[in-house]
Amino acid sequence: MAKLEVNVDHVATLRQARLGKEPDPVTAAALAELAGAHGIIVHLREDRRHIQDRDLRLLRQTVKTRLNLEMAATEEMLRIASEVRPDLVTLVPEKRQELTTEGGLDVVGQKDFLREYLLRLQAAGLTVSLFVDADYAQLNAARDVGATWVELHTGTYAEADTEAEALRLFEQLLDAARHARSQGLRVKCGHGLNYVNILPFRGRPEFEEFSIGHSIISRAVLVGMERAVREMLALISG
Ligand code: PXP
Repeated sequence: MAKLEVNVDHVATLRQARLGKEPDPVTAAALAELAGAHGIIVHLREDRRHIQDRDLRLLRQTVKTRLNLEMAATEEMLRIASEVRPDLVTLVPEKRQELTTEGGLDVVGQKDFLREYLLRLQAAGLTVSLFVDADYAQLNAARDVGATWVELHTGTYAEADTEAEALRLFEQLLDAARHARSQGLRVKCGHGLNYVNILPFRGRPEFEEFSIGHSIISRAVLVGMERAVREMLALISG
């Protein structure tokens, strides 16, 4: 059965809108686990726009499944990952101006740097996944630099304008997943996956795990709305 890792960054985004204490991504992670999530993901961004260092440290203590830390390949993040010791480190490209991660890592273009960086993560006992596009050259490079996992970027597929285009991009992801597995890489995928565009992935053993955040948190806000209003009304009416 395919596994689901839930990204709780967007809970932290809501909290940071008021710079307050709620909603707490640590609580959201515990609830996701109670619902059966196989893992929790957070992206500790350089600008700390959502997840904070405190969240990561608490999650390390409280997550009972697996903790996947998304991060840029920087010295600061290497130090943090070595201290916190998540179950998986996913390296992603990071730009300050972007709203969210915009594409896969250019592994081909920074092969020497990444080989060295992965060696340092692995020396600290960490397992590494690389977030990459569905591209043979990038996948081969991921194998060459010593990654255990690749996460295929599904954002372009998720944004396809037509069904035909989505189908074409899905086939590309499937082909890439098969190629990655033939190279000894384990395959997960994520970005932009929702309750509709996930359907073609069902029952495809090529995709071992899914990393999903925005659509799950969006749905949680909506399916929880009625109850939240009822609870406040009950309080107001005393
Ligand atoms: N995988 C990676 C590498 C990401 O950067 C993100 C977004 O933080 C996701 C998966 C989850 O994407 P979404 O929030 O669109 O489900």
